[in-house]
Amino acid sequence: MPRKIDSLRRGEVPFHEPEVPELLARNAARLTFTLDVNALVDCEFLFVCVDTPPTYSGDADLSRVWTVVDELPDLEGRPILVMKSTVPVGTGEKVRHGLDQRGLSHVGYVSNPEFLAEGRAVRDFMKPDRVVVGAFETADGDAVAALYEDLAAPIVRTDVNSAEMIKLAANAFLMTRISFINEIANVCEATGADVVEVAEGIGLDHRLGSHFLRAGIGYGGSCFPKDSLALKQLASNSGYHFQLLSAVIEVNELQKRRVIAKLKRHLGALRGRKIALLGLAFKPNTDDMREAPSIVLASRLLAEGAEVRAWDPVVRNGGNLPRGVEVVDTVADAVDGADAAVIVTEWDELRDMASDDIRQAMANPLIIDGRNLLDPAAVRAAGFAYEGIGRRTLPTDVLLETHEREPELR
Ligand code: UGA
Repeated sequence: MPRKIDSLRRGEVPFHEPEVPELLARNAARLTFTLDVNALVDCEFLFVCVDTPPTYSGDADLSRVWTVVDELPDLEGRPILVMKSTVPVGTGEKVRHGLDQRGLSHVGYVSNPEFLAEGRAVRDFMKPDRVVVGAFETADGDAVAALYEDLAAPIVRTDVNSAEMIKLAANAFLMTRISFINEIANVCEATGADVVEVAEGIGLDHRLGSHFLRAGIGYGGSCFPKDSLALKQLASNSGYHFQLLSAVIEVNELQKRRVIAKLKRHLGALRGRKIALLGLAFKPNTDDMREAPSIVLASRLLAEGAEVRAWDPVVRNGGNLPRGVEVVDTVADAVDGADAAVIVTEWDELRDMASDDIRQAMANPLIIDGRNLLDPAAVRAAGFAYEGIGRRTLPTDVLLETHEREPELR
């Protein structure tokens, strides 16, 4: 943490997030970064933005939240502790109790969950669909709601427990949509339909909407995987088996592995095969590798005996990929001599990858598009075999001759 504070003081953002460096620079004169909690004594609002990763039991780890509560200095006036972190329902009540126990009853508490997505954080924060404010005391809720007055977004006023649940339920619903469309994609593959066209046809129904219907190799990131577990555990700790959410999680786990079966269908056994993984971050415009499908894919490929070469435009040194993956600097290096290229993250840089150069560089011109980024017809016209997720496949997509080729043993 001291290193992060130091880099922020120098105006350097210690993670990749578009627009944040410019925002920090514009407001440098109004921002102070400190490790000294006593510097906060006269603050009116204290936003808690710590992470709440899963514990071994799948519950959210609230130890950082409790560190904040324990370390709060003797605050003056009527400051308000504003919870931005994603926490289980009931956390606010516990923190309220903790504050009272510490003799900080004069500190207000408001749940104000954050709905921004990585890669578009500044835009989402400035133009939110809604702001949720859950308070024990109406005046505290009024004070926090007033901070957002200029954003022209609806403000949902509610109690603390409901605000906490809104955050968890919103994420759970988004994940449900993803796992749903991924299952539809899998059925499309089995029946000869095309999920991209199906999603478009579904999304035009105003009751359903078009968002979060992009089929692919599953969701990752620092939020969905841990929030789904936390909500599942929260329910089961309260005596309820959240069946639908359990299925959403399982579908997502299986979805990450489907690429392996696709590769095998084209290449036969993967031992000794050279596979290029294109994109490593859990989604574009971030360098975040937490719970990224690329990690599961790389591990499975190594376990199958494949040689894995990986590229990402912003993830440095391959992040936390398993040992044995060769990380390279360019797409050209990744695909050189490869038996297949797998698009794992839909980076813009990959949109025109179906070129003559790439085709000639590959030992076998096969693209498995895990994010349905490319236009299948154009890629095939460029001389590649192509397979997306839930897209129509053609008999010519399976390169039969490659089945017969004996893979080199290592
Ligand atoms: C998510 C939510 O979108 C935010 O509203 C929420 O505030 C945030 O979690 C959080 O709880 O902090 P984020 O994880 O940054 O944001 O990213 P998303 O854009 O939601 O994508 C999550 C994953 O779902 C990615 O791996 C993405 O590739 C995948 N995804 C998304 C799909 O597979 N299909 C889709 O249609 C949409």
